[in-house]
Formats: sequence, structure tokens, C-alpha cells
Amino acid sequence: MSTVKPRKQMEQIAMYAPGKPVEELQRELGITHVIKMASNENPYGSSPLAQQAVQNEIKNTHYYPEITAPVLAEKLAAHLNIDKNRLIFGNGSDEIIRLLTRTYIEENDEVIMASVTFPRYKTNVIIDGGVPVEVEMKEGTHDLQAMRAAITDKTKMIFVCNPNNPTGTIVGAKELLEFIESVPAHIVVVVDEAYYEYVHTDDYLETLDYMEQYPNLISLRTFSKIYGLASLRVGYGIMHPDIAGELLKNKDPFNVNRFAQVAALASLDDEEFMNNTKTWNDAGRRYLEDECQKRELPSFPSHTNFIMVDTKRPAEKVYNELLKRGVIIRPGHMMGYPTMIRVTIGTEDENHLFIKALDEVLQLQEVTERG
Ligand SMILES: Cc1ncc(COP(=O)(O)O)c(C=O)c1O
Repeated sequence: MSTVKPRKQMEQIAMYAPGKPVEELQRELGITHVIKMASNENPYGSSPLAQQAVQNEIKNTHYYPEITAPVLAEKLAAHLNIDKNRLIFGNGSDEIIRLLTRTYIEENDEVIMASVTFPRYKTNVIIDGGVPVEVEMKEGTHDLQAMRAAITDKTKMIFVCNPNNPTGTIVGAKELLEFIESVPAHIVVVVDEAYYEYVHTDDYLETLDYMEQYPNLISLRTFSKIYGLASLRVGYGIMHPDIAGELLKNKDPFNVNRFAQVAALASLDDEEFMNNTKTWNDAGRRYLEDECQKRELPSFPSHTNFIMVDTKRPAEKVYNELLKRGVIIRPGHMMGYPTMIRVTIGTEDENHLFIKALDEVLQLQEVTERG
């Protein structure tokens, strides 16, 4: 046993529990056909342009990447119609979350977030000595009024996950803008928009339009979801250039590798891949929502590439039985939803296979019996 003591904050956290990898289940069950609908990845892969860019970059593995991804920054800034000094890239948007807490959170600073939301906010706040203040949601949606009421003299940062993971819900545009207006300027408001590209309703706030007006407003986005580059690890934050400058001082120098930089760059040219993904995702989501409804299994209104469904049975049992049938989803019991499961929208085939497996599982006596 090691007698070396870690920092006291380490007692409060555990290792991140990811969606089960396909390879792991294949090894465990000795089966080859496994479908993963657990981590909100893009089931259509990534753009062929991105894949070609990665192949072309192979010859440069011996070179470090450029530390601020300047070529990608230039192109993305034009794409988003913002000043490139507002951008910072991370090893996934996960890293931007960590950089924000590491740069701004001091011992006992309070950070407000929803319960339940993306778990990395809480973990990073704790590691950096802050105090997570979790505010109960209303029917799977952020309760911005209650979050506003939770602000104290100690509040330093607020996370709004929009759309929210794991529920898939969004907050209304007017409501979010009023919330941002009401937050004192010394508190950082981080709007995590990892699923931004999947949203298509007018009632969704374009946060970038308000960055000038609210220098404490930050948006987080990623190439992991609709762009299908999760394994390469590249996400970004859009923020006031002064905040970006502070985060740049804090980041690991070579945080975004060369493959990630060129793949992200090439992805921006492939509108067709993006539009197809959106169209197919919408159709798949409608199909899954309808099928669940037919079985009287309600789900939260989703604006993303996943749905959170109430199976009305213990989620852990449903999860384990689906695993036996080669289907990986995310059980809600670990997130405070004991009977719900989060299912990533798959390809047409995957969605059908999921419903078929779910039907089998719902009929099992041992799953239906509570306890
Ligand atoms: C809401 C949200 N934010 C951030 C992330 C992190 O994404 P990445 O680090 O791959 O950019 C995820 C990943 O699932 C997410 O769901």
C-alpha cells in the first residue's frame, strides 16, 4: 500500500465512467456484432475529407503540432464569423472545462450547475478546490430561475449545458438571455453547446451574438459529436480574448495533435456530411421516440443525437440485458434516473436492432420485477 497522500479533494472524486467500449463487450461476451449507442458519437463516422486529411498527415508524426492551431483558428473564426482571438482549442471540450476551473476557481468558490448534467463540471470544480452547487432540474430541463436564486457572494462560475446531457433538453432563447443579463459580470457563464449543430428550433439562443455585450459569457463546442472526430480529441471555447489569453497560459502546449487539427479543418468543408448526419439523425430520433411512445415509454423532448427514455423498469437490469444482446446504452441509475436509459440515435439498422432487443428485454420477468 502506498503511504503517499493525494490532495484531499481526490477523496471526493472517482474515475470517469465512460460508455462501454465496443471492443470490451466483444472480449467479454465473445460476440462480434455489437452496437454502441452509449456515448453520443456520430454513427455515420466522419467526413471522408477529414479521413483523407489524417492519412496525408501521417508523414508528419515526428513533428509537434502548432500550439494554438492557427490555421484551424483562422478558418473556424471565418466559419463562425467571430474574431479568432476569441477561440481556444482543447483536447476535446473536456479540456476547456478543466482549463476554466483551473484558471478561475479558487478554494471554496461556488460553481452552479444543474442536477443532472455533464459530470465533468462537478469533477473539475472539486479537483480545483471549488464547491459545486447543484440545482434540481424541472422535468429534465435547467431551472434557470432556481439557478439565479442560488447565486451568492461566493459564486464564481455557472455551467448551463444547452442542450443538456443526459436529458437532451434545451432552455428557451428568451429565458437564457434574461438569465445571462441577470448574472453579475464577475461571474463566468459557461454555456456548453456540445450538441449545438443538432439543434434546429428558433427558440434557441445564438450565444455568439451576445459575446460582445457580455464579456463573462463563454460557449463550448466540439468536433467530437456531429463532426464524428471523438477519438482525435478536439473541442473549442469561444470567449472574450482576455479570458482566452488566461486559458492559453494554463493549457498544455501541444494539447491538440496534428491529426485532430487537420481533420477538424477539413471537416469544415464538408457541408454534405453534416447535413446528411442531421437529416438521418432527425429521422432516427423520430423513429425511436415513436417506437418508445407506442410502448408507453416516455422520453424527455430531445434536441440532440440521443434520447433519455423511461423504461419504467430498473435501468441497471435493462442495461445488463441489452448488453447480453450486444447493445450498449447508458443506464440512468448512475445519473440519478433509476428507471431511465440514455440512448444515442444510431443508423437505421442500429435503431431497429435496439428496438428489437428492447422488446425482448421488456418482456423478461426478472427485469420487470422491481428490486
Ligand atoms: C455536454 C458535453 N460537453 C462536453 C463533452 C466533451 O466532449 P469532448 O471532450 O469530446 O469535446 C461532452 C461529451 O460527451 C458532452 O456531452
